[in-house]
Amino acid sequence: MRAIDDYLATFGEDPGYLNWAAFGPLSPAARDALHADVELLATGRAEGIAVTAGRTAEAQAAVAGLLGSRADEVTLHPSSTHALQQALAGLDGAVIASVAEFPSVTITLERAASASCGRLAPRWISPAGTRVTADAVAEELDPTVTALVVSHVDFRSGYRADLAALREVLGEDRLLIVDAVQSFGVVDEDWSAADVVVSHGYKWLRAGRGTGFARFTDRARERIRPVLSGRIATAAEGLPTDALPDPALSAQAYAVSAPDPFAAGRLAAGVAEIAAVGVSAVAERLERNVDAVLALADRYGIAVVSSREPAERAGIVVLEPSDPQGAGRVLAAAGIQVTVRSGAVRVSPHAGTSTETLGMLDAALADAREFICP
Ligand SMILES: Cc1ncc(COP(=O)(O)O)c(C=O)c1O
Repeated sequence: MRAIDDYLATFGEDPGYLNWAAFGPLSPAARDALHADVELLATGRAEGIAVTAGRTAEAQAAVAGLLGSRADEVTLHPSSTHALQQALAGLDGAVIASVAEFPSVTITLERAASASCGRLAPRWISPAGTRVTADAVAEELDPTVTALVVSHVDFRSGYRADLAALREVLGEDRLLIVDAVQSFGVVDEDWSAADVVVSHGYKWLRAGRGTGFARFTDRARERIRPVLSGRIATAAEGLPTDALPDPALSAQAYAVSAPDPFAAGRLAAGVAEIAAVGVSAVAERLERNVDAVLALADRYGIAVVSSREPAERAGIVVLEPSDPQGAGRVLAAAGIQVTVRSGAVRVSPHAGTSTETLGMLDAALADAREFICP
């Protein structure tokens, strides 16, 4: 069996599940990792504690593998929002962000600015269609701008930003901080364009909550003060008691306390599954399933407001039927799980979404006709 077929065979969620942009039902590998670590921590034996303590390094290495970075540039966090706090709290200058970003970006940036005594100021933009393009960013650039924080794939519109173009317009002196929650592992991206990448494992990596992570390049470290740096983030050997050592001279400076080994183990397992197949193979299967959803939308004459262009999308299709709530009720009654919000129906398949699920969507859309047509 080919690796991709093995991977696709691990999808065991209920038929009708099309809500991967909200939550990824756990993979067998993540569940097995959790069960094994629970047993290892049930006895008090030193070996079990040591093995599970090693999950942090395993997860860092696995994430670094997909990012194409060094393992010591990767830190683990309870969530991607915690990781963004680390990136934004220590910045100075004007930081560009779209007002339509996920609140992990907007609220975190606003709070970091209010605590900065004027050192940091958000530079809010409202680009057309919530698309953070290089042109939209270029209009705002002036010498006070130090960074852009942007979702690689927008949670609402599904738009995939062009990281290479954003890097080019920002130049080498400003930071590109990327929220990769809606793309990591399912979009074959060159992450070297970004100075900071944050994400988590509970959607597309199928690893459950508690699995946030971040990569800070050396350049990012030169510009982001580790103001939220905690007890495990110093250069000291062992426990830094009776001393106040400086933050570590590595990305470890942006850590707080020991990561949850259960979460780290799940994350390592979720990332390893994708690494074994290759991101490009997963991305190609996802692209096919997105095409299948788009074809159904066209068959039923539903307006598609997310991009159809493969380079501008990932796993999110946004539909605007005439009555989104009504259509959502019919889909839910048929066992289809999607997100209905802001006057739209967000459909998000994964690489392993089955033909059965797509068939259920087809039948449910046929039943929802009265809520679809203008
Ligand atoms: C783009 C984006 N960023 C951040 C988050 C929140 O991530 P976390 O719960 O890890 O803070 C989400 C959740 O849906 C999201 O879609």
